[in-house]
Amino acid sequence: MTSTLLTNIGQLVSWDDEQPIREKAALVIEGDRVAWVGSSSVTPLADERIDVDGAAVVPGFVDSHTHLVFGGDRSEEFEARLAGQPYAAGGIRTTVAATRALPTPQLRVRATRLAAEALRSGTTTLEIKSGYGLTVEDELRSLEVASTLTPHRTFLGAHVVPEGSDASNYVDLVTGPMLEAVAGVASAIDAFCEEGAFDEDQCRRVLTAGAARGLAVHVHANQLRPGPGVQLAASLGALSADHCTHVTDEDVTALRDSGVVAVLVPAAEFSTRSAYAPARRLLDAGVSVAVATDCNPGTSFTTSMGFVIALACRELGMTPREALHAATAGGASALAQRDVGHLRVGARADLVVLDAPSYVHLAYRPGVDLVRSVIRRGEVVR
Ligand code: NIG
Ligand code: FE
Repeated sequence: MTSTLLTNIGQLVSWDDEQPIREKAALVIEGDRVAWVGSSSVTPLADERIDVDGAAVVPGFVDSHTHLVFGGDRSEEFEARLAGQPYAAGGIRTTVAATRALPTPQLRVRATRLAAEALRSGTTTLEIKSGYGLTVEDELRSLEVASTLTPHRTFLGAHVVPEGSDASNYVDLVTGPMLEAVAGVASAIDAFCEEGAFDEDQCRRVLTAGAARGLAVHVHANQLRPGPGVQLAASLGALSADHCTHVTDEDVTALRDSGVVAVLVPAAEFSTRSAYAPARRLLDAGVSVAVATDCNPGTSFTTSMGFVIALACRELGMTPREALHAATAGGASALAQRDVGHLRVGARADLVVLDAPSYVHLAYRPGVDLVRSVIRRGEVVR
């Protein structure tokens, strides 16, 4: 097994218990794992040596919430929003039509391009949801496309009731033949609990059916208005409640007590021109918080976790350290992954070398490509 010494690291964020952030550091990669972390003044021997010349090194980003598989775009809807039009869940149907119309090879090419864009910007772990197919066949092919890109694929058949369907019959389809078809390809299930999408009972049916098939549970919760989504996530022992834009004190307590991760997606609020999630209230109450891109053509067409970190600092009131933690270790918790999102010994060697002396630059220099190099599973991929 080849070993590589990364040395002369100006600032290393490993999230190690004793020294979560260390200056003048070095790290050894053996195969696809982190084998040693310490000071750059006394380093072990290795087969190869990379001098990063004082750069900061952070764990690869963990984007725990994306909808990367879709056809078309909704730039016209975005432009209309800038002219004052509000966002509504029904816009999803536009993308459903475009996705169904796209042959699988093109669907794959487009999703692969977005996943590559995410990787170039430092995302080494990616979750991908279906949800723009909404037929057995189209949900299955969306998840099959996702399966070529990531092990973290989430069945979101309950995204919106498709045109011409009745809600109750559609939920029967999702919990019956659709789930049956996708259960072997999906690793998790999600439902959009919102007015205009699915109500609490419908979401509970969908999510418990998925859980019974061994799928992990995520919930699109409390995005557009207060609602039952967060409490539902807590009562089902979901891995995460995502969005959490409109939460009550009881919701905050339920998240804290259940250990459900609140996945905040500030780029969606940026793009929909909505109020931002109350990250401070959540963090101060002791809730586990992740940040993710929510990359999708309707509410958040970005793959950039750097942009999300900058928004988390500027708009969610998070410190740069909290934001980076949420974008790495937080995302790993939302996906129940223990070996990513940190760089302690034994972690997967997924890391980003920044073109900056400190991780703070991720928020301090918004819109700038600060990624000098990306290493995934021990391989330099950028
Ligand atoms: O997470 N909220 C539900 N789904 C997406 C938006 C989907 C769309 O508008 O196409 C989201 O924001
Ligand atoms: Fe989403």
